[in-house]
Amino acid sequence: MTKPPHSLQEAQAALAWLIEAGADEAIDETPLSRYRARSEPQATAAAPRRPPPGGELISSEAAAASARDLAQTAQSLDDLRAALNDFEGCALKATATNLCLSDGNPAADIMIIGEAPGADEDRQGKPFVGRAGQLLDRMLQAAGLSRDSVYITNLLFWRPPGNRNPTPAEIAACLPFVERQIELVDPKILVFAGGVSAKTLLGTATGILKLRGKWASYQHAGMARPIPALPCLHPAYLLRQPAQKRAAWRDLLSLRAALDGGKVAGINE
Ligand code: URA
Repeated sequence: MTKPPHSLQEAQAALAWLIEAGADEAIDETPLSRYRARSEPQATAAAPRRPPPGGELISSEAAAASARDLAQTAQSLDDLRAALNDFEGCALKATATNLCLSDGNPAADIMIIGEAPGADEDRQGKPFVGRAGQLLDRMLQAAGLSRDSVYITNLLFWRPPGNRNPTPAEIAACLPFVERQIELVDPKILVFAGGVSAKTLLGTATGILKLRGKWASYQHAGMARPIPALPCLHPAYLLRQPAQKRAAWRDLLSLRAALDGGKVAGINE
């Protein structure tokens, strides 16, 4: 039988091992001692999962309509954050620790849109702060950029439990806020990090391996002008498939060339 940890150091090492193995969230809000004999009754019953705020979940259509109404009223990024705090149409909010809206510079020329917060992002309430985020930082640095010269957000603002793929209903509920965020930041260039972001925002079923590196034009209803958009491989994918870093590097060079005045439809031709 596994021995319980005897010191803080051992407990921390055991926890680190669990996180590395993918067990990065507690199943219940009340800790449960797995070291007690099975027959021994637990002193406290496990607390029930937090119910979704506002009681009953609303339908996907009602959620998307409420998202559109709330997002449209936002006149600033602070308003948008407040609107997201008021929004009850995405069930992910009930299991997430924090709202994870954005990081970086709202006045930047480049806006990067990833997929969804992971465990680290959920804890800190900021996108791309975990391992994938650290790789993103190194990629930006290699292109002569930094977090201060880009604005970073995600397609989803709350973490899907266990990092599962977002559902179409969750994407639809968050999309009006993503669209309003694009209008408020009004960047010169959009970078879609990963297939979920690229496919959703370009309205295509084509996979990211075909989309990456090819400049596209992004526009949603009500936008004054289209914005050039570059789909890229997601840093988390590059961590799993390091051989693809060569392709990612080519895309960064293309981004750099566009910033330096190279020809990209819509920005400098
Ligand atoms: N992956 C994402 O798409 N976004 C994050 O914020 C972190 C990891």
